[in-house]
Amino acid sequence: PDALLFFRLGDFYEMFFEDAITASRELEIALTKRECGLEEKAPMCGVPHHVAETYISRLVDKGYKVAVCDQVEDPALAKGLVKREVVRVVTPGTILDANSLNEKSNNFLASIFVDSFGAGICYVDHSTGEMLTTEFIGEQGITLGAILDELGKIMPSELIINRALADDKKIFNAIKNKIAPFINIIEDEGSELTAYLKEVNDFFKKYTEPKIELQSKIYSIISAARLIKYLKATQFSALEHITDIQYYESEQYMLMDISTRTNLEIHETMRRRDKKGALITILDKTKTAMGGRLLKNWLERPLIDTKLINNRLDMVEYLTKNPFVSEEIKEMLHGIYDIERLSSKITNGNCNARDMIALKQSIKNIPDIRAILFNTGQEQFLKIQKELDPLKDVYKLIEDSIIEEPPLSLRDGGLIKKGFNTNLDELRESSMHGKEWLSELEKEEKEKTGIKTLKVGYNRVTGYYIELRKTSVDLVPDNYIRKQTLANSERYYTEKLKEIENKILGAEGKAIEIEYEIFQQIRELVKKEITRLQKTSRLLAIIDVILSFSIVANANNFTRPSLNRKGIIDIKDGRHPVVEATIEHQLFVPNDSYMDTRHNMVHVITGPNMAGKSTFMRQIAIITLLAQIGSFVPAKEADIGIVDRIFTRIGASDNLSQGESTFMVEMNEVSNILKHSTKNSLLILDEVGRGTSTYDGLSIAWAVIE
Ligand SMILES: Nc1ncnc2c1ncn2[C@@H]1O[C@H](COP(=O)(O)OP(=O)(O)OP(=O)(O)O)[C@@H](O)[C@H]1O
Ligand SMILES: [Mg+2]
Repeated sequence: PDALLFFRLGDFYEMFFEDAITASRELEIALTKRECGLEEKAPMCGVPHHVAETYISRLVDKGYKVAVCDQVEDPALAKGLVKREVVRVVTPGTILDANSLNEKSNNFLASIFVDSFGAGICYVDHSTGEMLTTEFIGEQGITLGAILDELGKIMPSELIINRALADDKKIFNAIKNKIAPFINIIEDEGSELTAYLKEVNDFFKKYTEPKIELQSKIYSIISAARLIKYLKATQFSALEHITDIQYYESEQYMLMDISTRTNLEIHETMRRRDKKGALITILDKTKTAMGGRLLKNWLERPLIDTKLINNRLDMVEYLTKNPFVSEEIKEMLHGIYDIERLSSKITNGNCNARDMIALKQSIKNIPDIRAILFNTGQEQFLKIQKELDPLKDVYKLIEDSIIEEPPLSLRDGGLIKKGFNTNLDELRESSMHGKEWLSELEKEEKEKTGIKTLKVGYNRVTGYYIELRKTSVDLVPDNYIRKQTLANSERYYTEKLKEIENKILGAEGKAIEIEYEIFQQIRELVKKEITRLQKTSRLLAIIDVILSFSIVANANNFTRPSLNRKGIIDIKDGRHPVVEATIEHQLFVPNDSYMDTRHNMVHVITGPNMAGKSTFMRQIAIITLLAQIGSFVPAKEADIGIVDRIFTRIGASDNLSQGESTFMVEMNEVSNILKHSTKNSLLILDEVGRGTSTYDGLSIAWAVIE
């Protein structure tokens, strides 16, 4: 009921009444009126079906939901009115149109469920099929803070929340302002837990055994069940690409709250909200869309397990030392399209033959990549090599069946290779022959009648005909039957022509139909391999990110950090990677820093303005972050003690829209930091207490340090 209805009428999608008024305003298309049996004419507007996706995306970008109502019967076969159904509802979190998706970002739809004892969050990327969930147990104030931090990592474009969350105005406003998703409030149904659990288990049963570790996670289950329900209600059938749900605990990762992520300018700069000048721009040398998304993901979830980090660092180190190998991998990754989104498209059914070819090209290089990985002999690469599925069967299937440059449309034939299906080949043969027969017929008739200008022609409406100039009408033989009269010519047909026509058109139409069917069969076959495709794509993404790390390390002179668990951060000649890149002639001055958990727990940094204090502090945080995602770091040497959280409090930004003054924002953030930091956290506080007078500020800073 809250969606605009796109109603299929012939070659158009039409909207009526209020929908038409809204859509014509938002899309700037003409509003017309139509008789509808009521007193007033119905306002209406429409868009051609082949460009509908762009219009739908534009409406969704503007914050509308769009319900697409399609013809579900073949109009040629239907009796009376063609049956129509709503086949999908497009929302910001479920849109699949490639133009409105950023290929290097996930597009998440998240569901949150909270009550007084805990909170669960479950989210899915409909375009790739990933689904993840986590939960928080405890006091409501704490769980809501954790939810907000988690949302900051996920940055969903659409949210489903329950009433309890919607009623908590403080957190609700924070979500609205900081994350700004499209929010659906869905009332609690009061279902039993077993009903929720059944919903989740049923959904995944086809692919995986019900998850043991999930069974005890009540909040995760409820949020997942609510998410699945919403997906089912909006997407109807097309959900088979969501094959698995992954539970994780946020303690498995280093924690950064939203403001830290903003302050360190990881994804965008603070002032201009621009990617240029953000850390990701320097770091992202990935070749594939999957790699780009995974890199973002790793940046959101730095590791705290030294073994896992070292596994990544080992691979990066290998590539930095073996430029030939990394060059080879780079080349191999180059031709790889977004396998994850392609395979989702294929399972969703809205793929065309070109998507199949793109998939084929993407998996073509996998055997070579496996060979390269095998030759490295490096432990981690060997592990990936073993897991990496060469998908030869899928490759062969597409290679054998679909022609190299197929047309966009599936309904006009010309998709399937010769030799794949004998039935199809025969039909094509007879339509080919038909064309020969026609030219023979033309020759014969010319000879018989002696009319040199006689022509056999074709048009879509009337079919095949024999055309004569008006001047030669007297010579027309008796067996010609008149079909059509034009200004300068007459068109006829004969029994024989009719016969040939039936054969040709019959064969052509049949062939097109068969091609369409074959394509659907191939699609079904590929669809069965969806889990393998997804796995392959995720492994390729890992290789891509590791490669990107090694390219960045070589280009910017990064070194491998060593890791310790003693809380020592010891950096020699550390640099700020972004500031360094912007300063000309390599005039950036490297700096050392040393911290531990005993006598060097706190550094107070003073100095004149423009001295580089803020840069220095941020650079320590960034080096630590880079080390913990498994990247090399901008320093001559670095020994990094694993931290569980990085907190920053930098600058002063007003948040008056949330009803908080500068000083209030600052105190809130500092209080949050003091409450949540542990002895293993890294805290960066830049100019604490500057929101008030000198002495008060000093006292605050003093108190905070103590
Ligand atoms: N190590 C460095 N080598 C060269 N240039 C640097 C270095 N660190 C910072 N800069 C440059 O110096 C300028 C000031 O840096 P920064 O903002 O860190 O200074 P600050 O001491 O925090 O100043 P303020 O007291 O005004 O906050 C920036 O333009 C930055 O590009
Ligand atoms: Mg400063």
